[in-house]
Amino acid sequence: MADNEKTYTLTNDETGVSIKLPVRESVQGPPAIDVSSLYKDAGVFTYDPGFMSTASCNSKITFIQGEVGILEYRGYPIEQLADGGDFLETAYLLLNGELPSQQELGDFNKLISRHTMLNETLKHFFGGFHYDAHPMAIMVGVVGSLSAFYHDSLDINDPDQRQVAAHRLIAKMPTIAAASYKHNIGEPIMYPRNDLSYCANLLHMMYATPCEDYELDPIAEKALNLLFILHADHEQNASTSTVRLAGSSLANPFACIAAGIASLWGPAHGGANEAVLDMLAMIGDVSQIDKYIAKAKDKDDGFRLMGFGHRVYKKYDPRAGIIRDVCHQVLERLADNDNPMFELAQRLEEIALNDEYFIERKLYPNVDFYSGIIYRALGIPNNMFTVMFAIARTVGWVAHWMEMMDDPRQKIGRPRQIYKGYPRRDYRPIGER
Ligand code: CMC
Repeated sequence: MADNEKTYTLTNDETGVSIKLPVRESVQGPPAIDVSSLYKDAGVFTYDPGFMSTASCNSKITFIQGEVGILEYRGYPIEQLADGGDFLETAYLLLNGELPSQQELGDFNKLISRHTMLNETLKHFFGGFHYDAHPMAIMVGVVGSLSAFYHDSLDINDPDQRQVAAHRLIAKMPTIAAASYKHNIGEPIMYPRNDLSYCANLLHMMYATPCEDYELDPIAEKALNLLFILHADHEQNASTSTVRLAGSSLANPFACIAAGIASLWGPAHGGANEAVLDMLAMIGDVSQIDKYIAKAKDKDDGFRLMGFGHRVYKKYDPRAGIIRDVCHQVLERLADNDNPMFELAQRLEEIALNDEYFIERKLYPNVDFYSGIIYRALGIPNNMFTVMFAIARTVGWVAHWMEMMDDPRQKIGRPRQIYKGYPRRDYRPIGER
């Protein structure tokens, strides 16, 4: 059914005055009641802190049906894309709406690899950070600073410049991420190698040194590729909404993505993968699980089971299921069968999934629950987990930013509020207070 044919009627119970609100249909998923003219027509706002029931935009990129654990990029189920697909192929799909042909993928690979280097001056920025700065702090700063270097892709009204900015961001994220890591461990920053795949190049920049090449571990490359596909987009999550909101003021794309990175860093969002490993280390042993489950259920205790729960998924997060299976394979192939963290995580999951508190609230493991265990097995330090997420999610952020900028009806994002402060009062000079 087309938009506007269905309506909802909202009635003021005091005055009996009714107003008809049009319904906007989705291709899949629930429709939305369009309340955009409500204030103009009825003088009231809608109230929805945390956007529990609010669709903030139209989008053609990603579809999630949380009640049944469905995730699709441009209509393709995540399970199919993750099964042997390539991260840059997924990136092309998210950006352009269609899977690439062999020729198109080859061209896209070349295009991205042409932008992998950083301006030499930009490298000085890393030296300005304290040696033990969290790599996410460096990412926020350095990605934002790209706006000061690439002036030829800052005109957001020019679709070609928007494309160049998008490609630059996708290409330079691994270089910036690896440089953040190198700064952290006090090693020289490595240049990218454009003969390697996106993920192999990242591993090279993280682990090679000027004295020694990195011998590519195909298991690590494959696992990263898979995790990056799973992390590439997730519709209007907090960081993507942050990017869209920042972009709605017509801010430049580098600044918008820096805002997205800052939002992703929080432990309720992408920072959860690092927090999961911290939590597992804190629990330490299977014998302690009951104590921590009790803490997670105690409303007077701030502790939550990290890597559990999701605003949208009320069933197992399909990404978590894929990652758990891959975890088995990676640990087996790395001959790391006796991985106490993985055993602890599996036991914790089993206990939580049988606990009334978690069952009632539909709290299942999310994408972050097992991803850290794979990263750890690949030798990636805990403070780089969220950086890995940020590299992959840049594709989604950029795709959403481009979609929004392509829409001539896009407006500045400007929510309203219910004011609960003082009513008007008069200023008194300091001596009279
Ligand atoms: N441990 C214990 N209780 C929980 C948890 C948890 N991890 N998550 C939610 N709850 C409880 C919560 O206390 C509330 O209980 P009650 O109804 O009795 O007050 C109920 O479940 C609903 O929780 P909520 O906080 O209202 O749900 P939300 O949709 O606002 O929050 C969430 C979703 C992901 C922020 C939350 O589940 C959480 O904090 N999880 C832990 C952090 C985490 O793993 N984040 C990664 C999310 S997925 C990847 C990503 O976004 O990047």
